Amino acid sequence: MKIAIIGCGNMGMAFAKSFLQYNLVQPDDLLLIEKSSERSETLKREKAGVVVETIGPRVGEADLLILSVKPQDFGSVYESLRAVVQPGQVVLSIMAGIPIAQIQEKLNHPLVVRAMPNTPAMLGMGITGFTAAKEVDLANLRRVENLINATGRSVFLEDETMLDAVTALSGSGPAYFYFVVKAMIEAGKEMGFSEAVSGLLVKQTMLGAYHLINTADKSLDELIKAVASKGGTTEAALREFEQGHLAETLVSGIKAARDRSTELSKG
Ligand SMILES: NC(=O)c1ccc[n+]([C@@H]2O[C@H](COP(=O)([O-])OP(=O)(O)OC[C@H]3O[C@@H](n4cnc5c(N)ncnc54)[C@H](OP(=O)(O)O)[C@@H]3O)[C@@H](O)[C@H]2O)c1
Repeated sequence: MKIAIIGCGNMGMAFAKSFLQYNLVQPDDLLLIEKSSERSETLKREKAGVVVETIGPRVGEADLLILSVKPQDFGSVYESLRAVVQPGQVVLSIMAGIPIAQIQEKLNHPLVVRAMPNTPAMLGMGITGFTAAKEVDLANLRRVENLINATGRSVFLEDETMLDAVTALSGSGPAYFYFVVKAMIEAGKEMGFSEAVSGLLVKQTMLGAYHLINTADKSLDELIKAVASKGGTTEAALREFEQGHLAETLVSGIKAARDRSTELSKG
C-alpha cells in the first residue's frame, strides 16, 4: 500500500509513525509532504518516509491520501491537490470541522473518509471517530479502519454530524483531563507540597484510578462509593464539587465545544 500524507505536523506524523510501527506501509511507500522546511529537514533526518515540500504528481501514485493540514490551510492546498488526485484514490481527512461534501466539492473527488483522532494517537493510544462518503465501498472503508486502528481504537459513525460530538468529547478530551490534573496539582501545592511531589501524587493517582475503571468489576458510582465513606474526607470534597455544580459545568462545557464544532463546520 502507498500512502501520501499532506501536512506532517503532530497528527500527520502520529499517523505515519503508527503505520510504520505496524509495518502497514514501508518508508519508501510513504510520501510525506511538509511545507515547513525546518520540519521537513527533521523528517528527512528521521528517514520516516520520502519527504517533499510541495504537492506534485507523485501524490497521484498513492492508494490513500491523508489530509492533515490545519483546517485553515485547506484553502491553500485543495487546488494543487485537485490537479493530481486520481479516480481510485481514497482521501482521509483528519481536519477538524471540514465536512465531507466540502472536501468532495473542492477536490472534485467522491472517495472521502473523515476522521477525528486525538493526541494520544502519538502513543498508539488514540481514539478516532470516523465516517465516510456513501461512494466509499466497504473494502476501502475496512482498509482505512485498519490503518486508523494502528493509532489506537476507532468508532465508525453513520451520521457525520456526530463527528462534532466526537471532537468535543475525545478530540478535545485530553485537554479537559490535563485541566483537572493541573487543578489537582495546584491544590497539592497550596497544601504545601512541591510541584514535583504534588505532580507525582496526582499523576500516579490518575493512572491507578484509570486502571481500576477498566479492571475492577464496579460501576463508576460504586468506585466513588468505595473511596467516599460516609461523613469522611472524600465526601467533604464531593459535597463542595456538587455545590459548585462541577459535573454540570463539565457537561455544559463539552456541549459548548460540540456547538462550536458545528458552527465551524458550517463555515
Ligand atoms: N492536535 C489535535 O489534538 C487534533 C485532534 C484531531 C484532529 N486534528 C486535526 O489534525 C490536523 C493537523 O493538526 P496538527 O495539530 O497536527 O497541526 P500541525 O502540527 O500544525 O501540523 C500541520 C502541518 O501541516 C503543514 N502544512 C501547512 N500547509 C501545508 C501544505 N500546503 N503542504 C504541506 N504541509 C503543509 C504545517 O506547516 P506550517 O507549520 O509551516 O504551516 C504543519 O507542519 C488539523 O486539521 C486538526 O484539525 C488535530
